[in-house]
Amino acid sequence: MQGGGARQEAPRMEEQPKGPEPHEEEEEEAGIGKLAFRFQRGFLAAQRLPHFPWADLEKTLKTSKDSSSLLTILQETVLHPLCLKYPPSVKYRRCFLSELIKKHEATGAEPLDQIYESLGDVLNAEETAQFYKSYLLPSGEAITLGESVAIISQGTTGLMTWDAGLYLAEWALENPAIFTNRSILELGSGIGLTGLAICKACHPSKYTFSDHHPCVLQQLLENIHLNGFAPDVCGCSPAKWDTQKAELTGFKGPKVSVTELDWSLVTKEELVGLSSDVVIAADVVYDPELMHALIRVLQKLPSGPDGKKAPEVYIAFTIRNPDTYHCFQTELDKVGIRWQAVPCSQKNIFPYDPHAKITLLRLFI
Ligand SMILES: C[S@@+](CC[C@H](N)C(=O)[O-])C[C@H]1O[C@@H](n2cnc3c(N)ncnc32)[C@H](O)[C@@H]1O
Repeated sequence: MQGGGARQEAPRMEEQPKGPEPHEEEEEEAGIGKLAFRFQRGFLAAQRLPHFPWADLEKTLKTSKDSSSLLTILQETVLHPLCLKYPPSVKYRRCFLSELIKKHEATGAEPLDQIYESLGDVLNAEETAQFYKSYLLPSGEAITLGESVAIISQGTTGLMTWDAGLYLAEWALENPAIFTNRSILELGSGIGLTGLAICKACHPSKYTFSDHHPCVLQQLLENIHLNGFAPDVCGCSPAKWDTQKAELTGFKGPKVSVTELDWSLVTKEELVGLSSDVVIAADVVYDPELMHALIRVLQKLPSGPDGKKAPEVYIAFTIRNPDTYHCFQTELDKVGIRWQAVPCSQKNIFPYDPHAKITLLRLFI
């Protein structure tokens, strides 16, 4: 018996499937890590579900021997500390988990308790008026914003982050020298993603966020606080606790302020008073009336010959209607503002729609 057993052992050893070599395991782990990061980045920013790398996940689930890759994705998304503290909407988390479950079930694997527990928690959670999106910077730092899901909420488009704002932020991160140690004015800031990314990563000396809508300004202020800045409001001193907090933490960021600036009301003196080296705006040309108001603002910026240096101006657009985009260019030509398209290499730091047609113009005042 022993002899027979021994004889059988040798072929059994050979037949055993070869386990992955150590370097193959490392590569597999790195691949799962990268995939989990893509899911994390999209999930925390509540990216639209079709834009997730589902096909790559399906491939990984098919080839992996256990459910560890799915558990890693769960940990990096729904169970991530940022999501627990500042969650995206209940509906979004529910849809995301349902999709994960579908992908898992399609492999014929045993149901995973942890995913069902997470889904149970989300199904029992109440939808709140306030929810969050978090955008990860290349440094790993996050920008967390209170946002609205609705494209138009409380009569404004300003309560959500738009793709052109993400695109402009990404371009700024690739070109920090334009902002470093300079004074920046942002028009139509909305709830602050672009400005916060610049304040956190590009070291401006001063950053002025502006908008005209009271609800947008309120949310903008909350978001600036949430991200650790202590803004001046309309040139007033920051609240006492903000100053104290900044002193206590030795905060060395830019001087940040929020100002109510309506394009149809702002005066030349007010704009000159802001002494901006760079003026930026994202997704502010979508309506002919607004376009004319914005051009009047641009005409009021210092233009060099009258004593003050003209700022560099950059405007990012999502081209929804080419006529609107061309009309803006024609109107700029009419008032003698030269423009030039700025080439951008999309690095996909932020999860905007990869099919959106977005462009950046530099204007010469
Ligand atoms: C489509 S949102 C873009 C927000 C942000 N820049 C982004 O990309 O996410 C347009 C913004 O312009 C602001 N806006 C519209 N009309 C304005 C005006 N007359 N004066 C100042 N801001 C205005 C809105 O309040 C809103 O925040």
